[in-house]
Amino acid sequence: FAVSPVNAQKFQANYDESKVPDYELPDPLTTQSGTAVTEASQWPDRRAEIVDLFTQHVFGQMPDDRQVECEIVRRDDQVHQGATVRTELTVTVKPPQSDAGAADGEAESVEIHVLVDVPRSTSGQDDAAPPAVPAFLGLNFQGNHTVTTDPKVRITQSWVRDRRNETTEENRATAAGRGVAASRWPIEMLNQRGYANITAYYGDIDPDFDDGFENGLHGLMPEFIAGLPPEQRPGSIAAWSYGLSCILDAIEMTPDLGIDISKVAVLGHSRLGKTALWAGATDPRFALVVSNDSGCGGAALSRRAIGETVGRINSSFPHWFCDGFEQYNLNENSLPVDSHQLIGLAAPRPIAVGSATEDKWADPVGEFLAARAASPVYELLGLPGLIDNTGNTPLQPPHPDHAYSNGAISYHLRRGGHDLAEHDWRRYLDFADRFLKQD
Ligand code: GCU
Repeated sequence: FAVSPVNAQKFQANYDESKVPDYELPDPLTTQSGTAVTEASQWPDRRAEIVDLFTQHVFGQMPDDRQVECEIVRRDDQVHQGATVRTELTVTVKPPQSDAGAADGEAESVEIHVLVDVPRSTSGQDDAAPPAVPAFLGLNFQGNHTVTTDPKVRITQSWVRDRRNETTEENRATAAGRGVAASRWPIEMLNQRGYANITAYYGDIDPDFDDGFENGLHGLMPEFIAGLPPEQRPGSIAAWSYGLSCILDAIEMTPDLGIDISKVAVLGHSRLGKTALWAGATDPRFALVVSNDSGCGGAALSRRAIGETVGRINSSFPHWFCDGFEQYNLNENSLPVDSHQLIGLAAPRPIAVGSATEDKWADPVGEFLAARAASPVYELLGLPGLIDNTGNTPLQPPHPDHAYSNGAISYHLRRGGHDLAEHDWRRYLDFADRFLKQD
């Protein structure tokens, strides 16, 4: 993903707060035609408008329908000394009906391999089915075999980015990668706290390189994509988000897993945090949304043009967004939306935004300001948005290693760098306990 020197210079990163340009955020509660949204009943229409704007100008369009099949491949009830029931699923995604029919050479299906870890219930009556549990669903960066050292977990066969170490070989994963991402996936802790963990490799859904819509889910829908205005063709984030909805379909089709489908949080880190935000926006079934260090194109305000900017991300990762997003390179003020509205699309569902002090590339301050600027949407719906511990709107980000989490929007700032750490998970679990542990 080398950025050409010309572009790197053109889109040089600024880290100086005093150079943040003056900006005005688009109002989530004023319609495109200028009408003030003052009643909760007006929100669904305004919300649809904002979803359309993000679709057209940032992420691109995916089909409204999905065709999904699900098969249980393996079940192991001896994980974590019997405290966890581990299931591997294969989720088969077929071309959507909106793609007028398989053309020659069109891929027939895409397989997403899903790892599901459910806490064994201790509370179920002898014969009665144990109560279904809430869950976190998040994509992983390197394959399901990297989130645990369990030698039975399938090693991904999909394209992987070459890491220049023994965990990959010619863009394929090797057994040396087992467990390398385990610190990001504290599955045992989640299970002990009563949550299931659901994860899948993002490259199963769409490989993370610019392939001209050939592979992954894009390859299933050439006619659909060809029928779109070119600037609205879906980037990889839109495909990964659609994949998250396909996984949720599969969980819904498999009640035996013991997961409460009405209590599934969607979570993601970094580019997959951008993805989690868009999945939460496009699929109202997600009960809670978590963005960890998602930065530019995610929770950080584009208009601040600090750390990674729109121009920079479009030149290093052009395939993540739709081509329409490029109009806003060095031109953020013309973007009809900004990240506070993406956060507000979760409303009234709870949403957590996490940043890290040293992750300046992702603009922790811009993530805080966006979380705060989403509050009016929640207030319109009768809920507190981002509030501090005294119930007021916070003026500053919290101290490092602290959170503002008493409202329906939570923001925390971890000490340290760009990562999904146990500290972050504890914040998300504490927040989720308030919403997903209620009957
Ligand atoms: C790069 C990119 C970020 C992205 C991150 C990641 O740093 O510039 O936008 O969030 O990769 O996904 O790890």
